[in-house]
Amino acid sequence: MKFNFKIALTTPEVEGCLIIPVVAKSLTGVGKLLDEAYDGILSSFAEDLEEGVGSTVLVRRIGEGKVILISAGEDATLSRKDFSQLATTAFATAKSIKADVVTSWLNEVAVEGGQEENIHLQTLAVHDVHYEFSMRKAKTTASKTVITFGVDLLAQGKKGVASATAIANGIALARDLGNMPANICTPTYIGQKAKEVSSKLGITTQVMGLKQITALKMGSFLAVAQGSDQEPKFIVMQYKGGKANAKPIVLVGKGITFDSGGISIKPAGTMDEMKFDMCGAASVIGAISALAEMKAKVNVIAVVPTCENMLSGGATRPGDIVTTMSGQTVEILNTDAEGRLILCDALTYVKRFNPAVVVDVATLTGACAAALGSVHTGLFTTDDELALKILAAGKIVNDTCWRMPMDDDYKASLKSTFADISNLGSGAGATTAALFLAKFTEDYKWAHLDIAGTAWKSKASTGRPVPLLVQFVLSHV
Ligand code: BES
Ligand code: MN
Ligand code: ZN
Repeated sequence: MKFNFKIALTTPEVEGCLIIPVVAKSLTGVGKLLDEAYDGILSSFAEDLEEGVGSTVLVRRIGEGKVILISAGEDATLSRKDFSQLATTAFATAKSIKADVVTSWLNEVAVEGGQEENIHLQTLAVHDVHYEFSMRKAKTTASKTVITFGVDLLAQGKKGVASATAIANGIALARDLGNMPANICTPTYIGQKAKEVSSKLGITTQVMGLKQITALKMGSFLAVAQGSDQEPKFIVMQYKGGKANAKPIVLVGKGITFDSGGISIKPAGTMDEMKFDMCGAASVIGAISALAEMKAKVNVIAVVPTCENMLSGGATRPGDIVTTMSGQTVEILNTDAEGRLILCDALTYVKRFNPAVVVDVATLTGACAAALGSVHTGLFTTDDELALKILAAGKIVNDTCWRMPMDDDYKASLKSTFADISNLGSGAGATTAALFLAKFTEDYKWAHLDIAGTAWKSKASTGRPVPLLVQFVLSHV
């Protein structure tokens, strides 16, 4: 990211473009001082603000600078969600007028969670607004963003910035990996990236290739990879910030770098979007990186099976039967239901870690995207306590999930005439996919997140669910 980011103490910084909140129709702090110094110009402009949170008015000239007035609504304290949206609007407005120096006085707004949370959310918003895909030339205008807060709150302010910066870096990493085209973001590339970030953050990472994956007898994963010229990789990243004997939280991410559908080929229309089919992988790599960067006192392992789902003379055919690492056989009735085929072997592999809990993240089904759109991630688990924890974590960071059914009654459609199980259900596509995975997760606590609708929006990666994963891990006891 090409902007400087500075935290100032209250009072001296009034340079550049100022962001000034109007709380319950009144100016406070520096806003009030400026208004008095400039004959009430701010309060006259403030009359044009609309009701509610996030309405903005731009005052073009005040002394040497510009002022963005933003309404913080009528309530004394804003929710995290409202404040995040307000901060994002404010910094996006500053960016749109090409302000090169931005000073935010949003610390005047009371937020659920207090001043540390205020600074944390502002920091996340600045990073979000200024995210740029690394393959594009930087167009960022802001050369400096200053977030102000009181001297007495220095410690909280610094903590808020540090934790948000770690999360923002994890999100940016996930977004970048997701946005990268499949000719560059290959399984090998993801393996290299994982190694690269690990060496900086104190994560121990192993990248296994075809030979080791074969030796592990991951017959299902290999069946997906065999139609591609790209070598599959199996990535294991371990961060040990917790007690030596604390069981790890294991995050597993689907890493299909391109999903053509295989022999059960997809229609051409939006096939380009299937470069995003590794967003589950990107999110678990982003989340473990963020946790390591903030030196969280937890043990976390990120596991990524990554390959490409392509067509060739060597590709898997509909009707082929494979033996998974677990020993169960699978009849592949549709080569486009490949995510579950790579995940099932990864989910078998992770047993060796004696996990406290396993959460897998995958752009698994179009059906989940159809059901929930781009608002909620689909959450699947039979463990009620775990479901509540994940739902709560999502609400806190505004990266929400919706619990979907997992009833045994849906299981019948996964029956196969020739193998233990088929990879294709009939109806309830998101649930039958989850129930397929459930056959491989009986030995530990497990939840599945289907991010098919939330991982990208308008052909751009969102970085979801990095915030949710980080919050879940931090809140897990
Ligand atoms: N990667 C897709 C799921 C997907 C599709 C995500 C569209 C986002 C948008 C997955 O591998 C897939 O193709 N799933 C099939 C499963 C079906 C063949 C049972 C689907 O959802 O159509
Ligand atoms: Mn597919
Ligand atoms: Zn897929």
